[in-house]
Amino acid sequence: MSNNDVSTSHMMADYLNRIGAGKVLLDKTSFSFDWTPPLLVGRDEELSELASMFIGMEGHGVSGRAVITGPVGSGKTVMTHRFGEDLQRMLEGRRKIVLAHVNCRNHPTASQVLQEIARSLDSGHPERGFSSSEIIQSIRRNLKAHGTHLLLTLDEIDVLIRNDKGDLIYKLLRIDEGQGQQGSLSMMLVSQDVSLIKLFEPAIISRLGESSMLALGGYDERALTGIARQRYEEACRPGSVGDDTLSKIGRFAAETGDARHAIELLETAVRRAEKEGRGDVLVEDVRPSTLRSASVEPSQVDNLGKHQKLVLLGICRRLKKADEISSGDAQKLYNLVCEEYGTKPRSYTTFWKHLKELETVGLIESRTANATVGRGRTQHITMTNTAPAALESRIESEIC
Ligand SMILES: Nc1ncnc2c1ncn2[C@@H]1O[C@H](COP(=O)(O)OP(=O)(O)O)[C@@H](O)[C@H]1O
Ligand SMILES: [Mg+2]
Repeated sequence: MSNNDVSTSHMMADYLNRIGAGKVLLDKTSFSFDWTPPLLVGRDEELSELASMFIGMEGHGVSGRAVITGPVGSGKTVMTHRFGEDLQRMLEGRRKIVLAHVNCRNHPTASQVLQEIARSLDSGHPERGFSSSEIIQSIRRNLKAHGTHLLLTLDEIDVLIRNDKGDLIYKLLRIDEGQGQQGSLSMMLVSQDVSLIKLFEPAIISRLGESSMLALGGYDERALTGIARQRYEEACRPGSVGDDTLSKIGRFAAETGDARHAIELLETAVRRAEKEGRGDVLVEDVRPSTLRSASVEPSQVDNLGKHQKLVLLGICRRLKKADEISSGDAQKLYNLVCEEYGTKPRSYTTFWKHLKELETVGLIESRTANATVGRGRTQHITMTNTAPAALESRIESEIC
């Protein structure tokens, strides 16, 4: 083997090492969307409310019902998993609970859903050839034979309900009727759309009951920061991601209120640090995700007044290179831009008013600085929602 070969293979090993280097990342598992965290962040109240819909579950004739709604990433799915496992563990030795989770988007017809339920009870359940009532019959028999109670989650039920108007849900709610049985089945129904529930037949609504509705809201900055922190603590080397970095993730993700967004921002920031061979994730590693960008159209700047445009232009120029800009710097840049365009800058008060207007229309975001130095109102301005470069060139081409 020549020297050359040795060094080549050495380089190759280095390059592969980088993939598994894990200077920051120790275990990627918790970045996966199907990982169920041991505790949900910021959902204590909602979990208690959900639990209240399953009161008395240790009793054998008892079943519970819940309808969970909320926007994308509000934790509907993870809540059904967390709750199911917790309930199962809590009742251990008293009542045998089996869990089944069917995503109706992947199984959009009543018979596919039933097939999935049957398969989660018995992996050897034959693929096809049975009618819906036969499958229900076999589910019933299975539960009886094993003395188990089924906690069924029907996730993303929208399609299913459009397909069969809640017929299947009605049948499942009545699974014990006329069978001399009671409490075979509990259900959690999950949908993004609250109004969807209105599509149910009154008979179903009355069986579900008003008190079984749980509406989740999107997460705020604080919760999202906590969610990012939990994933960091699970996945990363202790000390590799600082508080300020996690706060930035929370702030950026608050734009959508989507927990998935926070996890993605963290993962991308970690990857960026790893790629550069660093063991620390820096605040600058958190960037607005291009995938989610552009809820702001560049043409939105066309409607702005001249000085609003000039204020924004200064901010864009800085934010092309930096993650945030202080209000003080923004004013300095505004003054420079005015000079460039041969306009007299407006007063501080007017500048400030324009800043607030830009924020109101969603072009910029600001937060008050932690430390108030000098002038009490220093703010840090960011754009999480749009590309500064695109706005800059739009303004430049517009303004003359
Ligand atoms: N309260 C929470 N604590 C920790 N992780 C959460 C929380 N809510 C959501 N997540 C995580 O965020 C991601 C999206 O949540 P998910 O339950 O799939 O949302 P939804 O079903 O409402 O769209 C998942 O990875 C989930 O584990
Ligand atoms: Mg979901």
